[in-house]
Amino acid sequence: MSGASDLHASAPPRESRLARADTETRSDFGIYIHWPYCARKCPYCDFNSHVRSGIDEAGWTEAIVRELEWTADWQGADRPLVRTVFFGGGTPSLMRGQSAGAVLNAIARLWPVANDVEITLESNPASVEAARFADYAAAGINRVSLGVQALNDADLKFLGRLHDVAEAKAALAIAMQNFGRVSLDLIYARPKQTHGQWRAELAEALAFGTEHLSLYQLTIEPATPFAALARTGALAIPDDDTAAALYEITQELTGAANRPAYEISNHAAPGAECRHNLLYWRYGAYAGAGPGAHGRLDAGGKRIATACEKLPERWRERVLRDGHGHAEFTPIDDAEAAREHLLMNLRLAEGLDLAVYRARWGTAPSLARIAELERGGFLKTNESRIAVTPKGRLVLNRLIEMLCD
Ligand SMILES: C[S@@+](CC[C@H](N)C(=O)[O-])C[C@H]1O[C@@H](n2cnc3c(N)ncnc32)[C@H](O)[C@@H]1O
Ligand code: SF4
Repeated sequence: MSGASDLHASAPPRESRLARADTETRSDFGIYIHWPYCARKCPYCDFNSHVRSGIDEAGWTEAIVRELEWTADWQGADRPLVRTVFFGGGTPSLMRGQSAGAVLNAIARLWPVANDVEITLESNPASVEAARFADYAAAGINRVSLGVQALNDADLKFLGRLHDVAEAKAALAIAMQNFGRVSLDLIYARPKQTHGQWRAELAEALAFGTEHLSLYQLTIEPATPFAALARTGALAIPDDDTAAALYEITQELTGAANRPAYEISNHAAPGAECRHNLLYWRYGAYAGAGPGAHGRLDAGGKRIATACEKLPERWRERVLRDGHGHAEFTPIDDAEAAREHLLMNLRLAEGLDLAVYRARWGTAPSLARIAELERGGFLKTNESRIAVTPKGRLVLNRLIEMLCD
């Protein structure tokens, strides 16, 4: 971690910032905004999300705008074209439409914005939030990702959710009326979930017809209430074989419904992938604003890893004091950046393009190593692309080690 003063020390000289603009304006750029508040903390969640009363929403919005102004200023005069914006959380659907609109106006003032910019907002499917959907659409949001999580009330209760199935369905209908693009999230591989139950639930979810679904296996994150329950044996997630079978069912049903996986947990009709998340996985550049937000910026041919203070109050104090709340703003060396690039690309079904990778980093995994891993059934190749097989996905970290060797 580096402090604010280190941060200025690591900023590149002005000339190199100007020199790099030509190439960077041609590449994709995204902006991630983190809204850190939730109405209630779900017992499985380790996202940077906090429950607070009496939030000064106008003050928070102003702080986000200030941090964006700082980032744009740091980028210099020739700023990259914004192609995607993502409001994540926490629960950004607790923001008023007016606040989201103020952030979007600031982005449009600070950066050139693509005509077909994708602007996503993560939403919880409670009625109070669905009531704001028309305001979000009016503010410019054109894609919503709805955290449905389960389609039976007992499991929603177990997951600590504030909505029931009827509310989720009503919110989904309102979302589909207001936005051209809707995604829904489900968490599966829940305790005691059978193959038959998951088949029926996923089939029901696919029948809603959203262009995109994020389907996550329940993960027990350390330091959550679920982790404490798991330690006492009161909560047990399915064993590896059951989880693998549930994953197979997921691939089968989504494939048959023309929503194949384009990433480990993300499924879309071809062309309806989340462009913001694709930007991460293709190792594009993006800025992060708000507590705990991460970014990857480019300057002087270097990748800069950024991370904001996690605790909302501390982040805001720093923004008021320094104009930004970054706790980390560090150039990454090329070997580390190349490794990150590989790791991100291999999450995607399209995999990694060796020619593009070599052109960018001047190095690439050896062909002999790739051939060995292909023979072992861990990788598949297609012209200059390599992608991970289902067998390889189970040992992804080891695979990365071997490819970066
Ligand atoms: C930041 S949350 C989404 C927004 C919204 N706050 C909500 O909960 O609906 C992102 C998604 O991560 C998934 N998620 C969070 N914690 C998880 C866990 N421990 N295991 C599996 N999925 C998880 C949930 O599906 C959730 O929708
Ligand atoms: S899952 Fe969503 S609603 Fe629940 S605590 Fe995490 S961010 Fe908040």
